[in-house]
Amino acid sequence: MDKFVIDGPTPLHGSVSVHGAKNAVLPLMAAALLARGKSVIENVPDLRDVGTMVKMLDLLGAVTTSNEGVLTIDTTHADGIEAPYELVRTMRASIYVLAPTLAVHGRARVSMPGGCAWGPRPIDLHLMAMEKLGAKVELSHGYIEASCDRLRGGEVNFPISSVGATAQTIMAASLADGTSVIRNAALEPEITDLIDALIECGVEIEGRDTSRVVVHGTTSVKPLRHRVIPDRIEAETFAAAAAVTGGDITITDCDPSHMGAVFAVLERAGCTIEVGPNRARVRGPKRMHATDIVTREYPGFPTDMQAQIIAALCTANGVSTVKETIYPDRFTHVPELRRFGADIRLDGNLAVIRGVPTLGGAPVMATDIRASSGLILAAMAAQGRTEILRVYHIDRGYQRIESKLNALGARIERVSQ
Ligand code: EPU
Repeated sequence: MDKFVIDGPTPLHGSVSVHGAKNAVLPLMAAALLARGKSVIENVPDLRDVGTMVKMLDLLGAVTTSNEGVLTIDTTHADGIEAPYELVRTMRASIYVLAPTLAVHGRARVSMPGGCAWGPRPIDLHLMAMEKLGAKVELSHGYIEASCDRLRGGEVNFPISSVGATAQTIMAASLADGTSVIRNAALEPEITDLIDALIECGVEIEGRDTSRVVVHGTTSVKPLRHRVIPDRIEAETFAAAAAVTGGDITITDCDPSHMGAVFAVLERAGCTIEVGPNRARVRGPKRMHATDIVTREYPGFPTDMQAQIIAALCTANGVSTVKETIYPDRFTHVPELRRFGADIRLDGNLAVIRGVPTLGGAPVMATDIRASSGLILAAMAAQGRTEILRVYHIDRGYQRIESKLNALGARIERVSQ
């Protein structure tokens, strides 16, 4: 298991590029199963989670090859129907194979994902949607057993907005008999990317970028030919890194139109941000100002940036509050940040951060993808040496983050233990 040894403080300067979006590529890889033949996905990041999804596709009988960010998925013999516990437990997004497997083969057996580091993450909405489209769904011995003759178009009204359930339903509806209407669909750019990819494959979909998506099912989906959108969370993590280190960085190959909520918060906290078509320059202040944040579904402030912004606000001038409304228990980074000397009080789903003038390096432990990147930010701002254990979490969602940050002036060493 690798660890990071980080020496700080290091203001970041220079230019850094952003890879393809993890949370867009994972459903796209599953969507390749809707077609027979060779799908080609470009701008695929080299991440542990992508590797897990590749393993899943291999198990289902697809043949995958990857070359410099271009992933080819040949589904000619993808006849498997089972997603086993061993894979699903390492990555919840594996359940994305449920809809395409069910839609193509009329059967799917997918392990229930179970909880995650910050509490329960149910999948009831995924299952409800499959039932609304005509599937029979049973839970047996930790597995979802779903079956149908052919899925049929239906009305799916989500009581809350869910990225995963929306993607799952759009995939299922693509091969259903008739038209499906999805209400309260998630608006995240990764959903729009999936819709765009499926439209390119011949599926007729209306309501792109709206909460009412209408999918006209077809009998055959063409193989995908698609370039993944940039990873907004990676880009925003770099922006927060510039902010907390008082740096000046230009983030390239990104889409600033996806980053409005985070940029607004950083500007309120004293950053100067200039955006161009595929780039953004972020200049951090000498010391950030305190600010108040509430996480929300897109286009609100993303829960996937909550750990990083709390880390950045630990040294802000004044008292900040961060309310987590998507995952009320997603605070595993808070006890670790306290080890740096941060003053954070938790009151239910509200974190109250009293800014301290400086943090001090400390040994800490990564607990999930975004918590880990928050710890890296704190370490780059802190005086002295930090050791972050269990960095495999960060490799799930950031491609060689230490190389990119080191090129900006950070001092991060990956040590294999
Ligand atoms: N929810 C339910 N029932 C369901 C599904 C979701 O109650 O069947 C609830 C969740 O508990 C949560 C809310 O709905 O309170 C929203 O969850 P959502 O389904 O949108 O999350 P997800 O699809 O499981 C994706 C990302 C997460 C990100 C969330 C929220 C992927 C692979 N994962 O998860 O990303 O935090 O949306 O934006 O797209 C990450 O990248 O580190 C990560 C965790």
